[in-house]
Amino acid sequence: MVVTFRKTVRDLVFSNRQLAKLYYSVSFSQPVLPHWVGADYYRTKSSWELQPHLCPCDIELNEYLQKYSIQDQSIFHFGTGSHHIVGLENQKLEKPNEIFAITASIPEHEEYISLCRKNRQLAKFYKVICTDIYTLTARSLPMLDVASLFHLGEFYMPEEAPFVHHDDASLVDLFLSKLNPHGKILFYTKSVGWGKAEEVIKLFTAQGKIKKIEEYKNLLVYSKHD
Ligand SMILES: C[S@@+](CC[C@H](N)C(=O)[O-])C[C@H]1O[C@@H](n2cnc3c(N)ncnc32)[C@H](O)[C@@H]1O
Repeated sequence: MVVTFRKTVRDLVFSNRQLAKLYYSVSFSQPVLPHWVGADYYRTKSSWELQPHLCPCDIELNEYLQKYSIQDQSIFHFGTGSHHIVGLENQKLEKPNEIFAITASIPEHEEYISLCRKNRQLAKFYKVICTDIYTLTARSLPMLDVASLFHLGEFYMPEEAPFVHHDDASLVDLFLSKLNPHGKILFYTKSVGWGKAEEVIKLFTAQGKIKKIEEYKNLLVYSKHD
């Protein structure tokens, strides 16, 4: 009975995904979430342009870095978009930060490569890898002064569990383990995954692992509770 129910749900998800893919291919639009189309289609087709009215988090991160003159630090950035505004603005600083950023989207990564070919200074301080953030481990990450986890809760897919190391909660644990003393971890309250992210933040706060330092527009800034 339970097996039949699970199979029915899987078949329904599969047929809805086929419909969603058809919709995206005829409308020439990009999928926003992998859950609608499956991870592979999402990685191949998604590409997010800068849309400050919908998603101002990267602009607010740049403002935040500027407000506190954060330069010459080690930064991780979750979700580059095709615009790569975090890397491009960083390059203009007197002492640029060393940014390690991630995208799951092949077109966004292709845009990074294309930008780096035209703008030879970009990669010097802004490295982008194209992979699933949930595959990262303590050995694949440097020590960090700032980590933006803006899209926590948006993209974790239980069906991908055999291929990754983390879920949303253990991902935060991972980044806390890589945070330098006085390091900051930033969350974004207007994320579509905010409901899930907030649960993790509340749990970690209750467990005494993190404490809130401040808010900046739609960003929440936390530090590690030592
Ligand atoms: C909605 S876009 C936002 C991009 C950018 N932060 C902005 O606000 O303009 C989400 C970003 O997260 C990235 N992303 C989605 N799932 C991911 C995953 N599992 N691992 C790493 N990056 C992922 C996408 O490739 C994309 O760059």
